[in-house]
Amino acid sequence: MGPLRQFGLVCAAAAIALWAQQPNMPAPKVFEPKPPPEQPVAFNHKTHAGAGIKCADCHAMRSPGDRAGFPAVSTCMGCHTTIKKESPEIAKLATFATSKQQVPWVRVYKVPKTVYFSHEVHVKQAKAECAACHGSVAEREAVGLEKSIHMPACMECHDRMKASNKCDLCHDSH
Ligand code: HEC
Ligand code: HEC
Ligand code: HEC
Ligand code: HEC
Ligand code: HEC
Repeated sequence: MGPLRQFGLVCAAAAIALWAQQPNMPAPKVFEPKPPPEQPVAFNHKTHAGAGIKCADCHAMRSPGDRAGFPAVSTCMGCHTTIKKESPEIAKLATFATSKQQVPWVRVYKVPKTVYFSHEVHVKQAKAECAACHGSVAEREAVGLEKSIHMPACMECHDRMKASNKCDLCHDSH
């Protein structure tokens, strides 16, 4: 057993011990990755990252920035009125744009309404990389559920980064 794996096991044991000490704690949800859902337009992160477009160009995280958000169809059409306009996928995109409808993207990462989460705090204050919670999106042709956003994953990082794990930090306080 390598030292890194040993360290991993010690951390896991410590996390479980921490877990057992808490009152009113639900059974930890087991994380299962999910393949990408079918999207209304076949958007590809890898192609767009390869074209040098930054995450923030499409996920603006406006202040107050709880949401990362999705780009407006007009943002897409800023390029696609000219780029690849003969493509059937771009034709679908253009149909949404001309009927003034946003694309109904299927959500992948979502926490229940009882949980408070802010992108602005994690990205700007805690300096967490998108990849820490979403995997290597820039290398994906389609985005599926790759990383856990269940309570144990939140608490493991809070523990490691010395952020609070008081229940009302994530529940009821907002
Ligand atoms: C800054 C410019 C830019 C923006 C903004 C942009 N794209 Fe693209 N898009 C590109 C480029 C460049 C390609 C690659 C074209 C190629 O393969 O030659 C591309 C390719 C695509 C393709 C593949 C087309 C095909 O059949 O090969 C789709 C679908 C697509 N984009 C959808 C979108 C959607 C949806 C949005 C908005 C969420 C968007 N794009 C925003 C530049 C952009
Ligand atoms: C050209 C616009 C564009 C760029 C640039 C872009 N995204 Fe996206 N992103 C989208 C669109 C459109 C969706 C919804 C469709 C999908 O899931 O592929 C999306 C979905 C996502 C999702 C899943 C959201 C959910 O439903 O939970 C994550 C996570 C994400 N993007 C992260 C990133 C990261 C990280 C980067 C930079 C490496 C990035 N995106 C760059 C347009 C973009
Ligand atoms: C600390 C973990 C974490 C980090 C770092 C993070 N996200 Fe998220 N992301 C989440 C969680 C949790 C959700 C679900 C939020 C909800 O349901 O309200 C989410 C949801 C999303 C969504 C779906 C739409 C939305 O606003 O809820 C997109 C798009 C997204 N993230 C993109 C990004 C991008 C781009 C970055 C980097 C700039 C990033 N995320 C960094 C945890 C994170
Ligand atoms: C990559 C590590 C990391 C992960 C994963 C993470 N957090 Fe955090 N979080 C932090 C750090 C660090 C802070 C302290 C930021 C500060 O105060 O500067 C923080 C602060 C917070 C705060 C208090 C600030 C505020 O927004 O009011 C809440 C609430 C929170 N996180 C919720 C969550 C939830 C819910 C999840 C899981 C879906 C999560 N976090 C996952 C690192 C993380
Ligand atoms: C860092 C953020 C964070 C902290 C701190 C936290 N939780 Fe959670 N909690 C979550 C997330 C995220 C979920 C959503 C379920 C899941 O995906 O695991 C959740 C779900 C729950 C649920 C299931 C019902 C629901 O609201 O969805 C209960 C009960 C719960 N937490 C109790 C607690 C208690 C008790 C504490 C303090 C000992 C606590 N939580 C601390 C993030 C947190």
